[in-house]
Amino acid sequence: MNLNGAVKVYDDANTLAAATAADFMTAARRAIAERGAFYVALSGGSTPQKLYERLAADYVGAPEWSRIHLYFGDERAVPPEHEQSNFRMAKTALFDHVAIPAAHISRLPADSPDIQAAARSYCEQLVRVPQREGKPCFDWVLLGMGDDGHTASLFPGTSAVAERDAWVVPVYVERLKSWRLSVTFPVINNAHDVVLLVCGAGKATMLRKILREPLSGEPLPVQRVAPTHGALQWRLDRAAAAML
Ligand code: 6PG
Repeated sequence: MNLNGAVKVYDDANTLAAATAADFMTAARRAIAERGAFYVALSGGSTPQKLYERLAADYVGAPEWSRIHLYFGDERAVPPEHEQSNFRMAKTALFDHVAIPAAHISRLPADSPDIQAAARSYCEQLVRVPQREGKPCFDWVLLGMGDDGHTASLFPGTSAVAERDAWVVPVYVERLKSWRLSVTFPVINNAHDVVLLVCGAGKATMLRKILREPLSGEPLPVQRVAPTHGALQWRLDRAAAAML
């Protein structure tokens, strides 16, 4: 397989979410025991939503929440109460249910009228994440994959994909005619663990291209996920893995 990282295939999206929720808490306990806290960059998307719901359902009273710090890997340029907001999704699925201190949740302010300034202000928040080699080093970066090969809000053909210095950048998504903010590969690839969640038959063709076909030309954004010190875990359901 043409692949960075390990692949696990689960029967369906619910099984994947339950197993990933259990692994999230195991990783949290380990990080808290070793370093006193667990730092995570959350993703938007339907698969992470199931994970957040499982975390809220299965670990609602876990003492670890007081030591968990949640950031966002990307956000759409909408207010926090908007139906397309990743913050709103995570809040409804998770934050509203568990005892995580409000100060431990860092929303990406992509709805700011000055999106460049918003990107810079999120970089200032990322300074609070433990650093490695002068860059934020999350314990977990959660990602999804779009059927066009995007991950976070790093879309094919955008300059954000090749960003080497800035930690957070504005991205104009032509296909959606809208702006987003996204963390960049210098941050993603500096994590201890990158966990890529991909579910559904609609992702099968792209997964095949990425994992089975030889790389030709420019890599797709998701093909640039390659942690320099950490590990990449692909977690798929059977429908997404059907053509591998
Ligand atoms: C977003 C994302 C994005 C997402 C993929 C997969 O805000 O849209 O962070 O990268 O993870 O598009 O989304 P699904 O899991 O919904 O297919």
